[in-house]
Amino acid sequence: MLTGYLAPEGLEKYLEAELTGVKDKIGRLYIVEGPVQRAFFAQNIWHDVQLLEFSSISDGAKQLKSLGKLWAFYPHNFIRRGQLIGEKLPYFSPKLSPFPTKLPKSTLGSWTMIDEHRIYAAASGSSPMAHGEIHFQETKVPPSRAYLKLWEALTLVEVVPKEGEICLEVGSSPGSWTWALQQLGCKVISVDRAPLAEGIASLEGVTFLKKDAFSLEPQDLPQVDWIFSDVICYPEKLLEWVQKWQIAFPKANFVCTLKFQGDGGYDAALEFAKIPGSKIFHLFHNKHELTWALINHFEEKE
Ligand SMILES: C[S@@+](CC[C@H](N)C(=O)[O-])C[C@H]1O[C@@H](n2cnc3c(N)ncnc32)[C@H](O)[C@@H]1O
Repeated sequence: MLTGYLAPEGLEKYLEAELTGVKDKIGRLYIVEGPVQRAFFAQNIWHDVQLLEFSSISDGAKQLKSLGKLWAFYPHNFIRRGQLIGEKLPYFSPKLSPFPTKLPKSTLGSWTMIDEHRIYAAASGSSPMAHGEIHFQETKVPPSRAYLKLWEALTLVEVVPKEGEICLEVGSSPGSWTWALQQLGCKVISVDRAPLAEGIASLEGVTFLKKDAFSLEPQDLPQVDWIFSDVICYPEKLLEWVQKWQIAFPKANFVCTLKFQGDGGYDAALEFAKIPGSKIFHLFHNKHELTWALINHFEEKE
């Protein structure tokens, strides 16, 4: 059995370091012998990869159609020939998503050209979005594009903070997450050592504390429903912080960015992954970082 792992652009080396038994590599796609391995840095995992040998463009399309209905072409080798095959498959056009949005329930296959007459194809994968990419309808209102990371994380965990819920958000400057949470009607306690961009701290429902996140004590805050962190710090330090807040607010949902410097910090990611009921994602909008989420409904669903 073969499994495919697609690395995010520019982060190939981090995915490669996680994988054992790589057999082939096409651009950002790693083909590996055996069932799915843990791969935090995979943007999409191709399940049960098939190697198809085909004689003509029509034959290539026919073989793909016999394996699955919807396909996304990963272009790297023989791109024009691949596009001609793609044109014979049912029309698939990824659209810009609004927020909030629900992920499609349909299965999406992925394929790529190995050479002129061979294809790697997987009829299903870990993401229902082409190459694991979620493209949102963007807005220029918030002070930076960091809100896209929060929108993507909330889309993947399939739950969005409700109007009136209390959100603690640390590492919040310049304030794009604060803006996104405020737009949902939440009460946001926004904490950073640096100030928020103009107009964010005065938004209705936002309380800004110019403070070190690590000096904040749970007893100084009301009961919070959500805890968010985008603080730049070592993942080990964040883990200790999260454990403290989890004890104080055991019913809270968490969404935290784990930021890595150099090649270290992954041991802490493994520790985060062990927290019962939590998940780790590499978001399309993440850089050399991962997103850890603990949502109360994860456990009920599994
Ligand atoms: C990537 S930025 C956050 C961007 C933010 N999520 C947004 O949407 O605008 C990281 C922030 O972490 C803050 N930070 C770093 N160490 C901190 C600490 N100990 N306490 C509070 N904030 C901290 C930095 O000041 C910086 O504003």
